[in-house]
Amino acid sequence: MNILLIGDIVGHPGRTITARTATRWKAEHRADLVIANAENSAAGRGLTAPLADELFSGGCDLLTMGDHVWDQKEAPALLDRDPRIVRALNLPPGCPGRGATVLETPDGPLALVQLLGRTFMAMNSDCPFRAIDDWLKRNASRFKTIIVDFHAEATSEKVAMRHHLDGRVTCLFGTHTHIQTADESVTAKGTAYITDLGMTGPCDSVIGRTTDIILRRFTTGMPGKFEIATNDVRLHGALLTLDPTTGRARKIKRVEELA
Ligand SMILES: [Fe+2]
Ligand SMILES: [Fe+2]
Repeated sequence: MNILLIGDIVGHPGRTITARTATRWKAEHRADLVIANAENSAAGRGLTAPLADELFSGGCDLLTMGDHVWDQKEAPALLDRDPRIVRALNLPPGCPGRGATVLETPDGPLALVQLLGRTFMAMNSDCPFRAIDDWLKRNASRFKTIIVDFHAEATSEKVAMRHHLDGRVTCLFGTHTHIQTADESVTAKGTAYITDLGMTGPCDSVIGRTTDIILRRFTTGMPGKFEIATNDVRLHGALLTLDPTTGRARKIKRVEELA
């Protein structure tokens, strides 16, 4: 089974290249499933119902969120009703939506879980290590294939999670930094890993936003309304190949597609 994993989709440019790539890769049998991070789909801030529809009809099967999950007013209701959208598992109890979901595939059920990091992250969350331990204790026996999105800033926290989950999940991929890392690998115990998938959106930017406004913020400290950039649109992610009968990853390879 081949799964295309897509890094943080930013705005209209990111959605357009996502739909084009996901549709084409599925038609060409390069990808059986597509899992994408959609926390920046709505002009950088969260996800709306029409934009979720756009991504699903454009070939995405499951979407993960992140620290921008509640940016849109309609997000709580959207996440409550659509089981294809996952927010972090370790958000405090009582939050809307779900931290894990199950997709029935021709090769058996696949579980997708999202975790949120706590190092250099402003969002309030519980310990991601304990949260995934607890989830695995209750659910691991039901699934061969378990995919985890670790939405986190610090590479150290992500690499630590890699060791924590080695041999316990099929794939652990990182999102949130918008910068793709060159460290994809499969461990001896069959867990695929990459620290960050990167960003799907305008790369002539500061992680998706227009450069001049961000530079002004850094150099003067003055606030300004962020805008989504438009140039040099790329899709960043990874292609995961796994054996659904064992739940072990076989391969993971970085992906970059140009618009
Ligand atoms: Fe994020
Ligand atoms: Fe993001």
